[in-house]
Amino acid sequence: MKSWHKRYLQQANWTKELRAYIFKEIGLNKESRVLEVGCGTGAILSQVDFPVHGLDIELASVKEAKIHTQGKSPLICADTFSLPYADASFDIVFCHFLLLWLAEPQQAIKEMMRVTRTGGHIIAFAEPDYSKRVDKPDSLAKLGQWQRDALQKQGANTSMGAGLAELFYGAGITIIEAGTISTSRREAMNADERANEWETIEADLTGIIPDENIQKMKRLDFAAWERGERVLYVPTHYLWGKNKV
Ligand SMILES: C[S@@+](CC[C@H](N)C(=O)[O-])C[C@H]1O[C@@H](n2cnc3c(N)ncnc32)[C@H](O)[C@@H]1O
Repeated sequence: MKSWHKRYLQQANWTKELRAYIFKEIGLNKESRVLEVGCGTGAILSQVDFPVHGLDIELASVKEAKIHTQGKSPLICADTFSLPYADASFDIVFCHFLLLWLAEPQQAIKEMMRVTRTGGHIIAFAEPDYSKRVDKPDSLAKLGQWQRDALQKQGANTSMGAGLAELFYGAGITIIEAGTISTSRREAMNADERANEWETIEADLTGIIPDENIQKMKRLDFAAWERGERVLYVPTHYLWGKNKV
């Protein structure tokens, strides 16, 4: 059984520096009222020094998040399209690998704006764009395509990252900063990370791609890493904005 928490911690590492930078710029402190929408198992919440509110639609994830945050974060099970908070309850509302999973992301953004005070901050820290994924050597290009197709089958908008600025702007948020996270996956991919990445790939592809084809691709991937020839890049976008004053 795949450990999603392990995967979420791995993804959390990709945005660690970016989160530290933005939170510092904003002046996050223990008085700040902060919410993570779609907090999953609490990978991000467990890395913040202050109690941050968290919300997820999956009860099992909320229960797991309670363990990982050692009870320091107020957590609830609820839907991002109907946040159970009064208007202007928070100074900062953020999400991390959430919007790609939502059928109507702009509605979700509007709801995030409602619970954020005027002039407060709304941040999407990581939304991928699989349409611009790079896999080298070319023999591994198919892997990117398989994974993109599998995520789409699960309901993901695999190019959400590319549309992030349009989405925030369209919702009426003042954009402060937009960009892609600087991550050197090449360096980060030690043996442990590769094993973790493959757990995710196998979970995504099982039942869609014949197992022998998956295993063949895995061997090609590992061999390319060993030769120092592997390039794996999924542009992952962030957007930091301000609720209109
Ligand atoms: C890829 S996970 C990311 C979890 C966490 N943000 C992180 O980065 O570790 C996406 C999360 O969004 C949650 N989610 C999806 N749709 C949601 C909704 N409508 N309302 C609240 N949470 C939702 C899922 O249950 C899942 O835990």
